[in-house]
Order: sequence, then C-alpha cells, then structure tokens
Amino acid sequence: MLALSSAKYCNYSILIFLLLITHLSSTLEALPLQHNIERFDINEFGIFEDHSFIPTFIEPQPEQKKIKNRDSTSYFFTQPIDHNDQSQGQFNQRYFVNSTFYKPGGPVFLYVGGESAIMTSTVEYSEASELAASLNGFLVIAEHRYHGESLPNIPNMKSENLKFLNTEQALQDFANFIINAPSSSSSPLNVISKDSKWISIGGSYGGNLAAWLREKFPNLIFAAYASSAPVKAELNFFQYDQAIANRLPCRDLVGESIEYIDSILTSGNRSAIDDLKKQFGLDAIQDDKDFASALNDPFIPMVQYYFPPTSSSEQDSIKMFCDAFTNSPDQSPKGLTAVYANGMKYFLQIQGYTNTDKILKVYATNKLSTDLGENQDETAWMWQYCNEFGYYQTAPQPPSLRLRSILIDADYYQSRCNFLWPDIPNSPDVDRINNAYGSTNAIISRVIYVNGDGDPWFPLTVSSNDANRKSTPNTPILVVKGGAHVTDLRPPTSVDWDSLKQARSDARNYLKTWLNIN
Ligand SMILES: *[C@@H]1O[C@H](CO)[C@@H](O)[C@H](O)[C@H]1NC(C)=O
Ligand SMILES: *[C@@H]1O[C@H](CO)[C@@H](O)[C@H](O)[C@H]1NC(C)=O
Repeated sequence: MLALSSAKYCNYSILIFLLLITHLSSTLEALPLQHNIERFDINEFGIFEDHSFIPTFIEPQPEQKKIKNRDSTSYFFTQPIDHNDQSQGQFNQRYFVNSTFYKPGGPVFLYVGGESAIMTSTVEYSEASELAASLNGFLVIAEHRYHGESLPNIPNMKSENLKFLNTEQALQDFANFIINAPSSSSSPLNVISKDSKWISIGGSYGGNLAAWLREKFPNLIFAAYASSAPVKAELNFFQYDQAIANRLPCRDLVGESIEYIDSILTSGNRSAIDDLKKQFGLDAIQDDKDFASALNDPFIPMVQYYFPPTSSSEQDSIKMFCDAFTNSPDQSPKGLTAVYANGMKYFLQIQGYTNTDKILKVYATNKLSTDLGENQDETAWMWQYCNEFGYYQTAPQPPSLRLRSILIDADYYQSRCNFLWPDIPNSPDVDRINNAYGSTNAIISRVIYVNGDGDPWFPLTVSSNDANRKSTPNTPILVVKGGAHVTDLRPPTSVDWDSLKQARSDARNYLKTWLNIN
C-alpha cells in the first residue's frame, strides 16, 4: 500500500474484527498502499445495498475463529543496529516458531517479515504452515527491523534515527539470524540439524526480501518462495491504478465520477470544492490533494485483497461495489458521484473515523508525525518507499481511464515524504535498488515466484509483460489466474479455485524436487 500514506490508525479491535470476518490471515502482508486500509471488509459497502448506515456484520465462522487463538510464544534474537559498525548498539528481533512438524534434516522455512508487525497466525495456520507440515519442515517467522516489537531504542522516527532502516540491513538481519540464532541454547531453533536447508518465504515487499536473500546469500538460503513480489522499484507507478480498473467491471462509471470530481477540484471555485468535500464527509480536510487521495481508500484494498465469498452469508465485494454504481437510477456523473459519496461516508464510519481529529490524523499531510506510537509500522514503511522504492500510485494521464484524481501525482507523494523528513532527497533512489537487486531481470536459481494476475502490483513483478520472462524449472514463475495480492499464502479455504490450487501444488513440487523428497 502505498498510498502510501500515512498511518494505520485503524482501531486495533476493528482491525482484528475485520481480520476475522474477512478470513484474511497475517500472511497477507500489504504493501501499504492506500492510506491505512490494509484489510477490506465486504460489508463496508453494505450501504450500497440497503441504503442504510447501519453496519450488518457477519458472525465469525468456525474456521475463522481458529485463527484467533494466539498461543504462540514470542522469542527474541539480538541483532546489531548497524551490521557494518557494531558500536551502534543492538536491538531485539522478534520471532515466532512452529516446530510441530519438524523432523531432523527437514527444511527450515524462514518466513521473512515485511512492512508490518508479524502475526502468530502465520506460524499457526497459513500456507506456510501447510508447507512445513507437508515437508517435515521447521517454520519460523522473523520480524523486519523497526516493525512491531523489533524496534531499536529510538526516541522518535526522525531521519537521524532511521538511517539503519533499509533493505541491505534487513537482509543482513535475516542472514545473521540463520547463522547465529540456532546456536543459542535458549532458542527453540537449537533443535535444527546442521544439514537442514533454509528456504526463505515471503509476500509483497517480504517476497522481494525472500528472493533477494537467495540472491545475496546463496550459501545460507537453499531456495526461496516469493509471493506477489514487486521486485522492480518504480517512482511513478500509474499502472497500479490501471490494474485496479481492469478488475472492476464498473470502471467506466467510477471513472466518470472521478472526472466530474476533478472538474470541480480544478475549477478554482472554492465554494463548489468545499461542497464536494462535505458531500463525502471529508470537509475537515483542507488540502485538496489530501481530499482527492482519501477518495481511493474505500475500493483500493477491496481489489488488492479480493477474495471470493467463502460462505453463502458473504457477498462478493467487487460485485456489491459495482452494483451500487450500475444500479443507480441516476447515471449522470453527478448521480454516480452521489453513490460514491454515500459509500465513502459509510466507509469512514466503519473504519471508526468518526470525528474531525481522526479524519485529519489519517488523511492530512500536515498531521503526519515522526512520533512513535500507533503509526510506527506505517511510518517505517513510508521511510523505505520514500527513500528506496517509490511505488507512488499516481493517476494515469488523460485520456487514459483513471480511478483516482488527476491531482494525485508523484509530487503529491513526494511532498508527503519531505513533509515528514525535510532532510531526505527529493526523490527515492529507485535506480540504486534496481541496480543492486536486478529488478525483474535478476535470474536467481531456485526461486519460485507466484503472482496473481488480478494483483495491482503485478506490473512490477517478474510476471509482467514488460519483464518478458519465461518460467523455467530452475526459476519457476507461477501465475494464479484471478489471484490478488499474496492470495497463495492465505490459508487454504473451501472455495480455492483450480488455478490457485495448481500454483500451490506446483510450488510444493518444485521444492520437493530441489530437496530430493519424493
Ligand atoms: C503449528 O501448526 C499447527 C497446524 O497449523 C497448529 O495446529 C499449531 O497450533 C501450530 N503451533 C504453534 C506453536 O503455532
Ligand atoms: C461556484 O459553485 C457554486 C456551487 O457550489 C455555484 O453556485 C457558483 O455559481 C459557482 N461560481 C462560479 C463563478 O462558477
């Protein structure tokens, strides 16, 4: 996600609640795209159906309740803050394990934490635990530095305190972990035998890291599984918006509404602009670009994490969203904008953004803060995309269809970066990252890439047309038809479709072949 924006100010209980009712497991690492909303609840668009503002939540299903049990223990491994200078001090890297399935000599799956705190559900029940179970593997998930509880002792997140937060240091953490964590007598990893092979696995940015670990530390990492990895850093990532449009049958209607909104935003008519903000329940936001950016929150995560309904009590989120536009009696741009505005208001309510302060804290650039606290993960990730990856999800230029306001350009994202950190460069150094890791051209043996063709991050993966890559037995590139972001690493469900099952079984078979397991 990247809208990169700001922080995840979702009330934690709401987040957990949404987590349960949407079957999303922690394996769904998100690149924080759109402002804070990493997990989408289909009922957020209930308003479109019954035109009431009363949320109708679904009771968690038994399968979902299972994910709720949090009985995994936290362990910590001491890391240097700077792998090139031990005098900078140390921090504790958190990890969880599941040793249930391990037989000596079996592989060790190192689930690489990405741009968020790790969650116990990854070791308790996920595609990673299924893999470990089927291959007699040991499963460990290690947290990314500066995320969750793996935070060095810093007073705030100003630039001087984040200079060791980068891809290189993170990769060295994981390498150091493999070399030294198992030899500690107090570590649950000490049962791992010397001949066990390490396999890195991760999704999204964590998928990049999984592949790059194999690239940079081939003697430590035997193989890698990179899910939905946007390995190409890109400053102006307008293809993201186009990929979202491709997934929405009602793209033209949403696009017409956006054009109408833009005609007002660019009119210079202050009172008309203020009326528009009010219509969306966002009149607290002064900055017009911040307002325009907020408009994407209701549907971007819905597409990025799309998953079909798993029971008859659920509805298809994309269908529900699009029906609202398609069934509107008033199909004029103004009428479609009214549908959109109602949906936005309902979304704000569901997210708990019920007062002015909350709305500003989430959406207003001038409220971004380097304070530690609930926005730690979002700020840490923002630091990395502002410096390393870009991934700025901009509006495609006319006459291309666009689902976001024309005001959302690279300068807008950059202004947010430089508001928070005035002393960093005026552009992320995406060339450095692409040169260091090879972008979509890096051919790394025994790396399995899995990408969903409905994932808006697809254009930055090795599966994109631009990459022009072929799948080979040594570097397989698997595509989940109809898959979204990191769909393959979700826990299996009763509605998994053939292409998803095929990709999982192919991935497993490649690992078995390489490991010489029948
Ligand atoms: C290990 O995985 C199994 C299967 O998913 C699960 O039942 C068990 O609770 C997990 N153990 C830990 C410690 O997470
Ligand atoms: C500005 O917009 C308002 C509607 O909000 C309208 O009444 C007014 O005529 C517009 N002003 C101009 C100069 O177009």
